[in-house]
Amino acid sequence: MKILAFETTCDETSAAVLEGGGLRSNAVFSQIKLHRKYSGVVPELASRAHLEKIPFVLGRALRRAGIKVPLKPDVFDAVAFSRGPGLPGALMVGRVAAEAAAELSGAPLIGVNHLEGHLLACEFENGKASRPLKFPLLTLIVSGGHTELWRARGYGDYRVLGRTRDDAAGEAFDKVAKLLGLPYPGGPEVEKEAARAKGKGPEFPRPFMPGTRDFSFSGLKTAVSYYLAAKLGQDFYRRGLRLPPADIAGVCAAFQDAVVETLVKKTADAARSLGLKRIAVGGGVSANGALRAAFGRLEGLEVRFSEKAYCSDNAAMVALCALRRLEAGKFRNSLRVEPDLSAPGW
Ligand code: KG4
Ligand code: ZN
Repeated sequence: MKILAFETTCDETSAAVLEGGGLRSNAVFSQIKLHRKYSGVVPELASRAHLEKIPFVLGRALRRAGIKVPLKPDVFDAVAFSRGPGLPGALMVGRVAAEAAAELSGAPLIGVNHLEGHLLACEFENGKASRPLKFPLLTLIVSGGHTELWRARGYGDYRVLGRTRDDAAGEAFDKVAKLLGLPYPGGPEVEKEAARAKGKGPEFPRPFMPGTRDFSFSGLKTAVSYYLAAKLGQDFYRRGLRLPPADIAGVCAAFQDAVVETLVKKTADAARSLGLKRIAVGGGVSANGALRAAFGRLEGLEVRFSEKAYCSDNAAMVALCALRRLEAGKFRNSLRVEPDLSAPGW
């Protein structure tokens, strides 16, 4: 089974070819440099960059997979794309590219849920989908736009148990980095700084929110901002005032600890109360070493992550969602692209 897939939900333009569970190519163009000067993704710029880059990214994915252009009829068994959730203008670009490729190759078009992609990315090992997930399991998706807990009974059978009420975990990393004067994307920068921390830094609250499986990270971000205002003065950000490097490291470590402890405790509590023994964690924030280590320390729970190369957005994971659906014979030849937060299942 050969699948061509596109990913354009946010700031990575990606195309991949998956054949029989093995990746033939996974071309990713990251727009990080473009958005860095705004300390976050600018949707209009993202859409334009997807438009500009997608022919090049597609060409690279086809070349690396050894697929000749013009496309021969029946070269693909399916063409897939992330139908959401994501930035509306950005999503359109992937959809149009996928629609054209499906039309040209006579393949069915499958729109997949981007967050399901982050879950299934856990199955890749050395470019092969050779570590199938075992169900039932609890899924934590932690990305720049989403923090969600799902109960997964099988492929395509997902129920949302909780999600963030305000900022996503990755968004909180990015915003705290901005307050500290660190570049975008903030997650990897905060992690690097935190590793340099020495001694006891500040303490930030853990937003456990008992009684709900939802998350909330905006208060934690505000706590960091209050801490900085107390140290540097009320309008520190506008005046360009930043902490000395050693203090930046301490704040990063304290903030990261608070996020990690909150994510791990809420996920472990949910797994135990539902009698689930397996957890799978996906999305950009799941690349974080402190988060991986803390999940690894949980007793009696088996926790899976994707390889770091597949934590951030990529079309390989989109192709794999389409493959699982083809195998199950459950797909609509669908042009539906609107973000669909309520129903991630098939
Ligand atoms: O999944 P992803 O690539 O894109 C979305 O679907 O949003 O996630 C991007 C997010 C960004 O907020 C970025 O700061 C965060 O993942 N991130 C990290 C790390 N690497 C990326 N957060 C914490 N630690 C990291 N090492
Ligand atoms: Zn993502």
